Amino acid sequence: MKLLDGKSTSLAIQQELAEMVNNKVSKGFKRPHLAAILVGEDGPSQTYVNAKVKACERIGFESTLIKLDATTDEASLLKKIESLNNDKSVDGFIVQLPLPDHIDESKVTLAIDPKKDVDGFHPMNVGNMTLGLPAFLPATPNGILELLKRYNIPTEGKKCVVLGRSSIVGTPVSILLSRKSEIGNATVTLAHSRTKNLPSICRDADILVVAIGKPNFVNADMVKEGAVVIDVGIHRIEDATKKNGFRLIGDVNFDEVAPKSSYITPVPGGVGPMTIASLLQNTFKSAYEKN
Ligand code: GUN
Repeated sequence: MKLLDGKSTSLAIQQELAEMVNNKVSKGFKRPHLAAILVGEDGPSQTYVNAKVKACERIGFESTLIKLDATTDEASLLKKIESLNNDKSVDGFIVQLPLPDHIDESKVTLAIDPKKDVDGFHPMNVGNMTLGLPAFLPATPNGILELLKRYNIPTEGKKCVVLGRSSIVGTPVSILLSRKSEIGNATVTLAHSRTKNLPSICRDADILVVAIGKPNFVNADMVKEGAVVIDVGIHRIEDATKKNGFRLIGDVNFDEVAPKSSYITPVPGGVGPMTIASLLQNTFKSAYEKN
């Protein structure tokens, strides 16, 4: 079993981006600028957004973090989005999800200018991605592909099972893996909560991508010997031995599954950091490859 080290891979990509930015700046170009909107005080969301902003600082991007109160109404958020759409100094921005219940996420996604939608969530980008046209690819699915690429894990002709059909991970990763492209050409099954015979379908997978949102959901009985296992889940579990009172686990029971797999992502330090690398790649693209 080999670990798919998302942390070091993400840092390597960030190092490459830092050099590319230096090169651009030395030629008189401005630095890429990413803005992030965070609504409310959700603990994990704060952690993720802070990590995104810190990564920008590390590689020489400009960043702006806009924190809005949990009681912010939808109209005010849409107004803020409109001002970022029109702000020429901002190359790309994200609205961290989930949003408070009183705000309609799809309205928010639709309000973002697709040219600044570095999360790749806008229907225009999702549509272009699906058709194989140029698009901002969603950060987590693209991060998974980048991890497979950098570890030289072939996908062509492989049986991939994606567990979970969310619009930000499961559905787009199933589309990307089945596309006719360098990391693609796989035969993909998209399984979900209504799938019958789930363990036997999972056991068929050469590559198993788990984004079902349930802690320790996948056990050793659901994994073929030698499979590649990608765990997208991240959950806080109470742990009194830790300083902050919790530890992080994924959707895969790592201790059981790791010995059976050829490659596996740890949690934390697997897919999570790759999401950040992809977001930064998209922001770089938005800054310098305007059409
Ligand atoms: N919440 C969980 N993942 C993501 C992501 O990739 N982008 C945003 N904006 N919110 C998220």
